[in-house]
Amino acid sequence: MDNKKNIISESYSSYIKSPYSSLKQSTYFNIYDELFSKYKDQEITFIEIGVLDGGSLFMWKNFFGTKAKIIGIDLNPDAKKWEKEGFEIYIGDQSKEKFWDDFFNKVGKVDIVLDDGGHTYEQQIMTVECSIPFIKENGLIVVEDCHTSYMTRFGLKKLSFINYAKKLIDNVNYRFMLFNHRKTVENRIWSIRFFESIVAFNFNTYATSIKSEKTFNGNNQIKAKDFRYASYPEVIDKLDNLSSQRLIKNLLVLRPLIRLIRKIILASHILRKYINLKRYLKSKNIY
Ligand SMILES: C[S@@+](CC[C@H](N)C(=O)[O-])C[C@H]1O[C@@H](n2cnc3c(N)ncnc32)[C@H](O)[C@@H]1O
Repeated sequence: MDNKKNIISESYSSYIKSPYSSLKQSTYFNIYDELFSKYKDQEITFIEIGVLDGGSLFMWKNFFGTKAKIIGIDLNPDAKKWEKEGFEIYIGDQSKEKFWDDFFNKVGKVDIVLDDGGHTYEQQIMTVECSIPFIKENGLIVVEDCHTSYMTRFGLKKLSFINYAKKLIDNVNYRFMLFNHRKTVENRIWSIRFFESIVAFNFNTYATSIKSEKTFNGNNQIKAKDFRYASYPEVIDKLDNLSSQRLIKNLLVLRPLIRLIRKIILASHILRKYINLKRYLKSKNIY
């Protein structure tokens, strides 16, 4: 099969130049360029799970340059033959913790792990979980063909790769100072990027070690009016003023009543906003 496309991308040029076959989605090359360009011509260690016909090994060598160490992983022992071409090849099952323990014991920390293996949820999730401790500062784990999360045959959807990645997003956000009492705080991953069919995890232990807290630069303060609640109904302001008046403060029954009225008005305001937003998103076919 030869269906070369007119794609403007450096990784696509490397792919086309590869002497052996490889099969990648047309949408992946611009994502590779975006994620991997800064590692070009560097002494990096790049791992790809999934060797098959060997074509992508040559593509990556072409793309990253001769300083890069390109390592292939596959379940198929025949993949070993690519060692003759200067690639390191490891044979094993990406869904097995034991395989990864042995692998990282031998190879040490790496810069980039790209998963183009079997694409089941178990394989993808175990690959991410087992690789995380072994990614160098500013390194990446990139999982491709994540569209399998929307397909049958790759595992139970409840624990699809995309559902796992969404859970990790929540855990990243729990780092925020008001939530970091939660058990699920994610301190391993700095950022997660979602592309079509591809998810990329970035690691920066310095950034994730910074405690989430308020900072203030202490410079000239203008004291501008904060408009963040400007869209609230005017009556909320009036109720707030009322309940801060001394007379009301002294009338013990009145204050809770004002607070209750305020709560009801605010809840109906929020509900109206929600309905309008939902209607808008529906009109755009987003929800
Ligand atoms: C999509 S192909 C790889 C294609 C190659 N990266 C390319 O671009 O041409 C998937 C490969 O993953 C390997 N594979 C499947 N399940 C695996 C597993 N559990 N562990 C390691 N490799 C696996 C298969 O043997 C196959 O060679």
